Formats: sequence, structure tokens, C-alpha cells
Amino acid sequence: MARTLWIGTSWKMTKTIQEARTFAEALSDASIPEHVQPFVLPAHTSLAAVRDALPAGSPVLLGTQNAHWAAEGAGTGEISMRMAADAGATLVEMGHSERREQFGETDEAVARKARAAVDAGLVPLICVGEPAGVRDAGAAEEFVTGQYASALGMLHADEVKRTLVAYEPVWAIGESGRAATAAEVAPVVEALRREAERRGGGTGCRALLYGGSVSTRNAAGLLADVPVDGLFVGRSAWDVSGFLSLLQIAGEHLSGAGATPPA
Ligand code: 13P
Repeated sequence: MARTLWIGTSWKMTKTIQEARTFAEALSDASIPEHVQPFVLPAHTSLAAVRDALPAGSPVLLGTQNAHWAAEGAGTGEISMRMAADAGATLVEMGHSERREQFGETDEAVARKARAAVDAGLVPLICVGEPAGVRDAGAAEEFVTGQYASALGMLHADEVKRTLVAYEPVWAIGESGRAATAAEVAPVVEALRREAERRGGGTGCRALLYGGSVSTRNAAGLLADVPVDGLFVGRSAWDVSGFLSLLQIAGEHLSGAGATPPA
């Protein structure tokens, strides 16, 4: 089976409904390279508008940046998995470092969300990543695999293959982030892959992504030098031309990877 590369963006706290629609319309008109799986995580307010702006049968998967584990009820400010699915989500992000830091999202909450997402027929996109101090102490792999193991704590082994995992070192994310090198990322990705295989009874996760200051400058290098199944992008993909360029880079990587090397 041909390899798939996932290229996704979280819009975080950006875009009005109209801005989201404009992005979705431009995306609808663009050609998506073969075997590249795009996904977009709009803010809750614009998710349904993005779904409606994409043509029926669009290959672009949509998701939410968060959803509660409870079925419904007293959860001020939250949405349920069912509401996320109703608005167009296939994926549900959880455990992003901004939510861990700003809203106290714990490993236990992430585990409950992963359980609730699978129960609702959604795909959990589990984010893990170490702070700078943990990396400086040489404990990045242990920390990150621990976060992932906790997130899987309420799933059965045969459900691990439904999960997407995004490794996003905290120190590499956002305006103040420093782009990580492939050498910094690769050993952690390999450790996560082993953990996914161990927890999933040998099958592993659905896809393992890297995120944190990914851009058109470093995407090709990361895809070439890190054993990932895709990239998860913030700022560089908020503009549709940036997102489309990243999809192209992934497509070129796949066709290059498929070429026969010179004798
Ligand atoms: P940036 O690409 O803006 O660093 O954000 C990455 C991220 O947090 C994606 O979830």
C-alpha cells in the first residue's frame, strides 16, 4: 500500500467565519498531491462553515482543537465529541501544550478525551512534547513516551491504531519557539513509534506527526530526515498559500521517495 503523508494545520485562535470560508474556498480549488492527507482544525466557531465551503467528497479532513470527554451537560465553554462530529469533525485534538499550560489540561483529561473520541467514532489527535528543561536534562524521550502512554491509558490495545500522535516539543512551538533540527526530533519520534507498537500489540498508531515551527523552509528536511508520517503546522499554514506549499512539499517528498535511485 502506498505511504500516506499527513499535513495538517491548527488555526488555533485565528480567523473569523468569513476568513475561514475564504481559506476553504481556495483550498477547494487547489489540487491535492496524491497520497497526501490534508487536515484543518478551525476554531469551533468556523468549523461548520469550513465544512460547508468544501465540496462534497473533499479529501480534506476537519477537526476540532478540543472537545470534552463528557457526553453533554454542565461543561461551560466546552463542546462534546458529538457536537464536534455534528459540526464536521473527524479528528479531535487533545493535549496541546498551549492547553496544558493555559488551561491545566492533564494527562488524565487527555486519556478521558481519547476514550470519548474513540467512543464517538472520532480520531484522537494526541499532542505530546517536552518543555526545554526536560530536554536539557536529557529526559525528552522518557517524558514524551510517558505522556503518550498516559493518553492511551483508557484505550484497548486494538484501539491504538486509531490514534494520531503529534510530537510537538514545547520549546519549538509558536512565536518564541526555536525550530528543532531533525537530529533533535528523530530519536523522540523513534521512541514514540516503539511505544505505539508496544501499546498497540505490534500494530502501532495510525500516524505519527511532527509539529513546532514547521515552515516551507524546513519541511522537506524534516520529512527526509525524521521517520514521521506527516507534519502538524501552525503559523506557516494559516495563509492558504503556505498550506498549499506544504502539501506540495509532501507530494514531492513522496514522489522522490518512490523514485529508483541511480545505479
Ligand atoms: P507553530 O507551527 O506556529 O510553531 O505551531 C505548531 C503547533 O502548535 C501546531 O499544533
